[in-house]
Amino acid sequence: MRFRTEKIMPPPIVKLIEEARRFIGASEFLNLGQGLPGHIPPTISLQGLQERLTHPSAHLYTPDKGLLELREELALYIRQQLNNYVNPETELMITAGGNNAFAGIALTLFEPGQTVIMPSPFYFNSVMAIRLVGGNVKMIPVDETFQPDPDLIEAAIDDRTRAIFLVSPNNPTGAVYEKERVDKILDLCLENELYLISDETYARMAFEGSMHYSPRSRRDAQNHVITIGSFSKDFGMSGWRIGYITGPEDFMEEYLKVQDTMTICAPTPSQLLALEILKTGLDVIDSEMEGVANLRELAYLRAKEIDQWDLTRTKGTFYLFPKVRGCKDSRKLVLDILRGTKTLVLPGSVFGEAGEGHIRLSIGPLTPEAVDEAFDRLTKYFATNS
Ligand SMILES: Cc1ncc(COP(=O)(O)O)c(C=O)c1O
Repeated sequence: MRFRTEKIMPPPIVKLIEEARRFIGASEFLNLGQGLPGHIPPTISLQGLQERLTHPSAHLYTPDKGLLELREELALYIRQQLNNYVNPETELMITAGGNNAFAGIALTLFEPGQTVIMPSPFYFNSVMAIRLVGGNVKMIPVDETFQPDPDLIEAAIDDRTRAIFLVSPNNPTGAVYEKERVDKILDLCLENELYLISDETYARMAFEGSMHYSPRSRRDAQNHVITIGSFSKDFGMSGWRIGYITGPEDFMEEYLKVQDTMTICAPTPSQLLALEILKTGLDVIDSEMEGVANLRELAYLRAKEIDQWDLTRTKGTFYLFPKVRGCKDSRKLVLDILRGTKTLVLPGSVFGEAGEGHIRLSIGPLTPEAVDEAFDRLTKYFATNS
């Protein structure tokens, strides 16, 4: 029996972590592989959740779109945080995470053979989702500062193009896309009747004076933008599987069919915790973000010590994406680093051809001490393997 999914590569992180487990003693292992935040939800919000869980309704389905109280609170947050007005009844839905949202968008939007244009390197799960529904992806390399090039994107548009997909702040590069470029890309969507799918999973993680720009905040473009949000990274809730989607009313009506089929609704306890954080935990989340900013400072300082790296300093997320001079096979390099230093980083090649020669370091889950330790190991590794 053959499977439709055979033409799609297996999840690259899962495979690598399996390989890592084979030769790593747990105590010394440092994981800079998976993109996890270091914080968990605020204690005050977890306490609030305890009380909410005593109500029987906390253990039942919610409406498909999500609890109305959460949607209303989230609409307020989106207005304050993203300068984006959404109607909580018709333009906002709670999902079981950002990946779930993207897979749902793929199922709702794409006919087999239609194309999505996305800057590359790219977030691989999104590519998998498009391929799973029979769509194609056109990768457009970013420039040397990891910003997307609107002219190259324009040249790639043809009659099969259905959408342009942007992730900002970006995984794996950390780039916070400049407003001017995003606006140009949005103009292209308006001119060519395309959707702009904007993955804003790391919306709070724009640092060093940069501003996250949410394209749906542009009023003239609201019918063309679908936004994906996630509680996984910014709110330390990756295990709770919760995110959201905003989009034009006609799209959301169609998306509801997919939502009902795939998940019915996002997990109710997770919705309640998200609601609690929005009501009681945002100050704590702000201070967690300061912690991420400090970790980044430390990591960039230490990264300068590694001569073989060409490192573009970006302003967002907890990822570093150095190019390793002379590296032609980043997967081989990563396995060698792992064997030599018991430290897992990801090969740039899993983020597409444009990522080959790079490695991705996720410092999100580390303490400052662990960041220092990781860079001690990496500095030594590259000094002896140059
Ligand atoms: C750009 C991007 N989008 C979406 C996700 C998935 O988020 P979620 O945990 O909400 O499914 C990730 C996770 O790494 C990501 O990096």
